[in-house]
Formats: sequence, C-alpha cells, structure tokens
Amino acid sequence: MKPEGRAVVVGSLGVIGRYIVDRLRQDESWSTVGLSRREAADAPRYRHIAVDLLNRQDVEAKLAALTDVTHIFYAAFQAAPGAASGYASNIAPNRDMLINAVTAIAQSSKMLRRVVLVTGTKYYGTHLGPFKTPARESDPRHMPPNYYFDQIDWLTAFQRGRAWDWVELRPQTLIGFAPGTPMSILPAIAVYAAVSKELGLPLRFPGKPGAYAALYQVTESAHFANAALWAATEPRCGLEAFNITNGDYFRWKNLWPRLADVFEMPAGEPQAISLTQHMADKGGLWRAMVETYRLEPYDYGQLVGWPFADYVFGTDWDVMSNVTKSRQFGFHDVVDTEDMFCRLLRRFREARIVP
Ligand SMILES: NC(=O)c1ccc[n+]([C@@H]2O[C@H](COP(=O)([O-])OP(=O)(O)OC[C@H]3O[C@@H](n4cnc5c(N)ncnc54)[C@H](OP(=O)(O)O)[C@@H]3O)[C@@H](O)[C@H]2O)c1
Repeated sequence: MKPEGRAVVVGSLGVIGRYIVDRLRQDESWSTVGLSRREAADAPRYRHIAVDLLNRQDVEAKLAALTDVTHIFYAAFQAAPGAASGYASNIAPNRDMLINAVTAIAQSSKMLRRVVLVTGTKYYGTHLGPFKTPARESDPRHMPPNYYFDQIDWLTAFQRGRAWDWVELRPQTLIGFAPGTPMSILPAIAVYAAVSKELGLPLRFPGKPGAYAALYQVTESAHFANAALWAATEPRCGLEAFNITNGDYFRWKNLWPRLADVFEMPAGEPQAISLTQHMADKGGLWRAMVETYRLEPYDYGQLVGWPFADYVFGTDWDVMSNVTKSRQFGFHDVVDTEDMFCRLLRRFREARIVP
C-alpha cells in the first residue's frame, strides 16, 4: 500500500522533531523523511537526509528528489549562545533555515498540502517577563526581535496564492523521556534530586521564590506530536495558529512534594541557587555515582543543560496559554501534568539514568 501522507520533518533529531517522527512512524499511512545536519539511521517508513539547511546548495541538491511530499513539519532550531531567555532573538539562522527548506520542498513537490510550523509561547514574550495571561492566539506580538515573527511573516508572504497552506503551533516547555537531550527540565530535576539525595540534602526547589508559587504550564512531547498530526490533517486548521499545552496549569509548590516522593527523599524549603553555578563542580561526584549505582554511562554535560533549568525555574510570573481554540477546532487530548512529571521521572530511575 502506498502511504497516503509523505512527510518531511525538518529538525527530525530535535526535542520536538523526534517525537513527530515517532508518531508518524506508528501510522502505516505515513512515510517520513527526516532532515538534520547529523546522520541518523533509516528505519521502516523513515529515511534520513543529513543536510545543512543554512547551505542553500546543499539543500537544493539533497531535496530536489523529494517530489511527492504532502506535508512539512518544521521544527528546526538554532539556539543563540548564552542564556535560554535570549534564544528568540537569534533571527538570521532560524529565518534562513525555514526559507531554504520550505522553498526547496515547495519547488520539488507539486503535491505539498500543508506546512506545520512549530513556534512556541515565546510568541507572547514568556521569556521576557510578565505578560497578559491566559495568552490567546489573537494577542498582539511583543516588541521584536523574535525569530518566530520573521518566520511567520516570511511564510505568510511565500504561501500567498499557492495550492498548499500552513498552520502554526505554539507549545510551551516540551517534556519527554529523552536521556541525552540536555535542553529539558526532566533530566535537570532527576540529576539535581539524585545529587541532593547523595549529599544527604532534602529536595529543595532551587528557583526563585516567585517561580515556586507562580502558575506554569508544559507540553508533553508525545501529546504535542498528536497535536501536530491533527493540525496537519484537519482541513479547518489551515492558516490558523493554536496554543498547544497539556491543557492544565500547575504550581511547582504543589508538585514538589510529589517529586520528592518519586526519589524517596524529603522535600525541603525552597532555596534559590544558580544551578549553572552550583552544579558545575558535580561532574566528579556524578561519575562516582554512575560507578556506585551502576548507572547508564551518560556524560554529565550531555545529560543536563543547567542554564535551561535556571531559565525555567527562574520564571517567577504566571505562564498560561488559553487552549480553547484548539478544542473548538477538534483537538481534545489532555495530559495531567503532575501525573506526567511523576511518570516520566520514574522512568529515569527505571532506566538507570539516575539512582
Ligand atoms: N524544546 C522546547 O521546550 C520548546 C518549547 C516551545 C517551543 N519550542 C520551539 O520549537 C522549535 C524546535 O525546537 P527544539 O527544542 O525541538 O529544538 P532542538 O531540540 O534544538 O532541535 C533542533 C533541530 O534542528 C536541527 N538543526 C539545527 N540547525 C540545523 C541546520 N543548520 N541544518 C539542519 N538541521 C539543523 C537539529 O539537528 P542537527 O543539530 O543535527 O542539525 C535538530 O534536529 C523551536 O522554534 C523552539 O523555539 C521548543
């Protein structure tokens, strides 16, 4: 049977892209090509192309053969150096990768139906400070720069008059079990808890006091992949933007005792520290713990991105998106966020990533 949907996932080895690939591969009616600079193995219904999207000649040469693509899932990203809160101002590479990929595929495939562009709640300025909550898709943009705006403006202009359309999805802090992916809050919690326990300390919230009490939201990666497939195939989604989160909100202060339970340790009073600074010297301790507890031998630096954790735990303002629009358009999946954290952190222990 020839697959009905032929997808290209741009950024297929990323935090988001890999889950979209996995989701598409579960469905026999899709075949998928993944793009990233790194090499990756082909698999049933999956072919990988290693390409540098900033090199137009490389892109044109390698994507010219993609003549039957029906859907593009765009989730490529280049972070700016420095604090995670500054990533949205890294305009040029993030705009140019989108331009090069979509232009080449739209040219080679006359079968293109839809582009799913992954942006995020940084659209509302979640990374800048307090903003209007709950954020609605129709809210005005924050003061630029923000590469999402450049991507959206380019895609809006490029799509005009063409046979295909596009949809924009705005998730918040993706959460998935993906050891070896440092830009994630899960391994940060797991390793911080394990090190605290090893040192005989209670599990203390290390972020700002206001962040402990503020309302926050996240998007489970597998849930987001379901939303991406829905957005790609629901006709009414064309030329629309949707907030995609788990559908609930939480406060770290309510969740924290449950996280301490997962690691079988007491929860302590919050104490604000810079994880970037205070965890920098724990590599030696971690290597010893890997030996003692026979853990999977992940490199400490590859396991956790502490600046990313400081960014999440430093958000001492409410972060809330309104997801009513996606429900009205037909996406009804929800995830219980507190249960999700416990379930996924238990997996870190079960898989012997942490003791
Ligand atoms: N992660 C989150 O929590 C989160 C939350 C909300 C929104 N978002 C948004 O979602 C989008 C994707 O983010 P992500 O976190 O999934 O990013 P990521 O994990 O850093 O993945 C980025 C992907 O892009 C590829 N890539 C980077 N430069 C490339 C190049 N020159 N040529 C080809 N491929 C290239 C990377 O592979 P190679 O390195 O192999 O090239 C990787 O596959 C971003 O716009 C981000 O702002 C993310």
